[in-house]
Amino acid sequence: MKTITELFDFKGKVIIISGAAGAIGSEASRFLSSLGANIVMADLAEDKVKNIATDIEKETGNETLAMKVDFTEEKEIEELVKKAVEKFGKISAVVNNVGWGANTPLFGSDSQKMIDGYKLNTLSAYNLTKFCMPYLKKEKNASVVFSGSSVGITPSPEFIEYSTAKAGLLNMARSMAVASGPEVRFNSLIIGTVDNGESSKEAGYTQEMLDNVVKGIVMKRRGMPADIAQAMAFLLSDAASWITGVELTVNGGGVYKSKMPTS
Ligand SMILES: NC(=O)c1ccc[n+]([C@@H]2O[C@H](COP(=O)([O-])OP(=O)(O)OC[C@H]3O[C@@H](n4cnc5c(N)ncnc54)[C@H](O)[C@@H]3O)[C@@H](O)[C@H]2O)c1
Repeated sequence: MKTITELFDFKGKVIIISGAAGAIGSEASRFLSSLGANIVMADLAEDKVKNIATDIEKETGNETLAMKVDFTEEKEIEELVKKAVEKFGKISAVVNNVGWGANTPLFGSDSQKMIDGYKLNTLSAYNLTKFCMPYLKKEKNASVVFSGSSVGITPSPEFIEYSTAKAGLLNMARSMAVASGPEVRFNSLIIGTVDNGESSKEAGYTQEMLDNVVKGIVMKRRGMPADIAQAMAFLLSDAASWITGVELTVNGGGVYKSKMPTS
């Protein structure tokens, strides 16, 4: 039987993380690096991702590769995978984490915005995974994790571009899982509201909205990026080597409202 340390030992693994300058992506990079992995960190925010990567290397002593990548551009994703293999010689796991979506009135969107939401939140993950597959197939316990969202499983007309794209992401991950066992595992996280600084406000949440959400969350707080990074590490680890094609909900118990008419 493996010890807990052995199960969560990522030494020698190479993990690509998209959206790695953001709240969740940077924390996942830091945590997986602390467990021994070499992390390929990609984000549109070039300076930010490079600075975070430098800090992580200093903290953990493990190598990183930080790159500016626009995940809506297929060619840039292909180049990222090429550079990762040139530097590290392999790819052991992928965290398809990049994503974002603005608050929009349900019928206030248009074709282009719907397509843009799909390109960033769904197609980015399809392309990154596709380009990594030949390398993942060569690795033991290769694994891919997707950053899904609560709004991708419940009606979410306020975020129609984002919620529709995130719903698609989940079924794409399930399809990849059934077609890729036993070589590569695919699992999604269904993420509840996580503190990501200003990003939620840019997406249209006001402080009042966020305070209101917290009142309903069973655990009475928004998630921290570390809550998600730890769940990602579990799904990528040897502890999860018989888990594929599932969604792990990490949402502080979700938002509960009593059905009593008096409440
Ligand atoms: N924070 C939450 O409450 C929450 C809830 C559910 C799901 N999620 C999902 O988790 C993931 C990470 O969220 P987060 O809260 O860390 O977000 P964040 O806004 O903090 O980070 C997102 C990162 O993506 C980068 N990015 C945006 N467009 C890009 C592009 N075209 N190419 C490359 N990089 C790009 C940004 O520069 C940023 O660094 C996303 O997929 C998000 O949809 C987050």
